Amino acid sequence: MKVWLSWGRRRRFLWVTGAFVMLWVVTQGFVRLIASSEQELTAEGRELFIHEWTPDDPLSGDGDGLGPVFNANSCVACHSQGGAGGAGENKHNVRAFSVLPNRNDSNIYGGVVHANATVEHLLETDEQVLGQYPIIPGGVTVIGNCQVRLEDFNPVEFEELNTPALFGVGLIDEISDWSIRQNAWGQSLTALGKEFQGNFDATMGKVRVLPDGRIGKFGWKAQFATVEEFVATACAVEVGLSNSYRQQDQPGQFKADEQAEYDMTSYQLDGLTTFCLTLERPELVMPRNSKEHTAVVRGRQVFTEIGCAECHTPDLGGVKGLYSDLCLHNISDPDHNGYVREPEVPMPSNMPELADWKTPPLWGVADSAPYMHDGSSPTLEDAIENHGGDAKHSRKQYLEGINDKNRKNLIAFLKALRAPEAVAAAN
Ligand code: HEC
Ligand code: HEC
Repeated sequence: MKVWLSWGRRRRFLWVTGAFVMLWVVTQGFVRLIASSEQELTAEGRELFIHEWTPDDPLSGDGDGLGPVFNANSCVACHSQGGAGGAGENKHNVRAFSVLPNRNDSNIYGGVVHANATVEHLLETDEQVLGQYPIIPGGVTVIGNCQVRLEDFNPVEFEELNTPALFGVGLIDEISDWSIRQNAWGQSLTALGKEFQGNFDATMGKVRVLPDGRIGKFGWKAQFATVEEFVATACAVEVGLSNSYRQQDQPGQFKADEQAEYDMTSYQLDGLTTFCLTLERPELVMPRNSKEHTAVVRGRQVFTEIGCAECHTPDLGGVKGLYSDLCLHNISDPDHNGYVREPEVPMPSNMPELADWKTPPLWGVADSAPYMHDGSSPTLEDAIENHGGDAKHSRKQYLEGINDKNRKNLIAFLKALRAPEAVAAAN
């Protein structure tokens, strides 16, 4: 039996349906509009990432474009391995310096000695840094009732920084401070448990708490909380592009030039940040060959068994396969990878020690040589052998606790952690 609606009801039915259809069209339109403007922003960000900046660049508005002091003329010059956003070679290492706390000044300062300048006479040198922060002469001084002889103290420590890959940084950006703290507490509890059993090799990472209370996740010292802030600083410091967050450096002064006009609009900065945030994450690529497949599976077990996973936490804050706790550790070793100088007075309590570095995420590690903060390890094997300090138990296990086959399995596992381009090629 057919049911006919009355005219009035039919009209109401048509109105309501019509309204729904309209609403659907409008919202779909909005969704698409937002998606397409997001895509446009990412595409423009990509252009800016690979753009080779020049002095007075047409893209830099009222600013002076590239420089005057800079490390490279594009982001991609350094971040290039396995595609735009990748890691970098040692020839592009950044020369940074720290001014250590001393008897005249208990603060720590830092800066970058730029590798390039738009005009030759502005080129920066180490000597300029040493001139600005000269050796503090020693002598005899009286502390309490004692005469104390103080040595001369050079407060400047230079360090090379190798370019890390940016793949997947958007996911790291979303890891909550709480997850990092919770994981670090877990490490401390396990460590305490082990100490009760007389084992003092346990791992305890230091969460980097920034002056404003947020947790640092980016940079070798975990000195930035967000990708956005890192990108803005990279524009200013690496390429010499002033922006509303950070101005370019004043040549030879090793600090921001407050007078410099902006080289970038907030839209450009947004685009560049969005591009970085949306870079695909690295993946574990399982070999098709069954023997190699078995090696990778076994290698992953060995990785946990010999304590690598204590710091290189496989999953953190919902991000699977990251292999980092995003904490700082001192893994340097006086008799292995060089002596690390102590400051004259203790570091300010919220600052990392000189030998503290963030556990680098190992995702994509197969495509990011050379390794360690200074790029001093050309191979994965060498990187592992350079683990001293808080990681020496793990190195000992690697060198003496497992057989040659399992050492190879471990390396096979690390070599299966690939950057996005290699992941795509493998599929
Ligand atoms: C001269 C080489 C060089 C150039 C040019 C360069 N970078 Fe970097 N980048 C580095 C180094 C070295 C680090 C690590 C620095 C540190 O930890 O203090 C880094 C780190 C980063 C990080 C943090 C990654 C992480 O996970 O910790 C981001 C984001 C980044 N760069 C973005 C950019 C962008 C965007 C540009 C272009 C405006 C750029 N970089 C230009 C060398 C470079
Ligand atoms: C106590 C914490 C800790 C343990 C345990 C540990 N690591 Fe590390 N690992 C680090 C830190 C910190 C760095 C960075 C050091 C630096 O840059 O000077 C690092 C660096 C690395 C690197 C270089 C990555 C890069 O991008 O430069 C590799 C590879 C690596 N570790 C693998 C391993 C393996 C394999 C094991 C187990 C045998 C292991 N680690 C055990 C903390 C640890």
